[in-house]
Amino acid sequence: MSHRKNIVAGNWKMNKNYEEGRTLAREIVAKLKPSETLAILGAPYIHLKGVSHIISDINNLHLAAQNCHQEEGGAYTGEISTGMLRSVGCDYVILGHSERRDYFEESNQLINAKVKKTLADGMLPIFCCGEKLPVREAGDHEKLVAQQVKEGLFDLSATDFSKVVIAYEPVWAIGTGVTASPDQAQEMHAFIRSLVVDQYGEEVADATSILYGGSVKPGNAKELFSQPDVDGGLVGGASLNAADFLAIMDAM
Ligand code: PGA
Repeated sequence: MSHRKNIVAGNWKMNKNYEEGRTLAREIVAKLKPSETLAILGAPYIHLKGVSHIISDINNLHLAAQNCHQEEGGAYTGEISTGMLRSVGCDYVILGHSERRDYFEESNQLINAKVKKTLADGMLPIFCCGEKLPVREAGDHEKLVAQQVKEGLFDLSATDFSKVVIAYEPVWAIGTGVTASPDQAQEMHAFIRSLVVDQYGEEVADATSILYGGSVKPGNAKELFSQPDVDGGLVGGASLNAADFLAIMDAM
């Protein structure tokens, strides 16, 4: 019996002003059912404290940042440290999102440093990986994802690795309306879990939550989540609407 957590995490990206973000959080709090499934709201930095107040009484609802800096603090103008995130009630940090990898040139090595800093400050990384379309078309998707996962995570101790949530997000499915088929998702999730087995053993692998991301919607969530190795979703566009986010929670 698997004892891993099911998780639905929203990634608001650079959307919603402060009041709109608080309204969205309130709408979710008002209708969220008690559940074994963990809901996470990945809000913009400046929304975190306000959203934290709104969700603090709800057991299965947690807060994530969408990035952090890898250094402790100091002269890094415009950056946000893990200590700052922790101090406003953040529990999770989304790291290695393909938009960060692409637009901000984040390497596996930089993401690895951010993962370690996040863990050192008592928060849990949601580590994203995934291939672009030409890589899949060339049949190299497993090779690329293996490299991202190994270089991003596999020098962690087993204890630290056990705190990481992995999100597989094929880049060709993000924001495009094209989802991976349930079979494609299952195949990659099982592959990622097999890598974890090889590195950390069955018990750790069985307890690792692997989320699927890329155009998850109320209409396709159930089929994706019913796959044995899909333990939930990282949801962008559909997480900006409370009813859609809650419907995706219900599909878990
Ligand atoms: P999407 O985004 O659901 O809008 O495709 C997912 C993500 O980028 O995390």
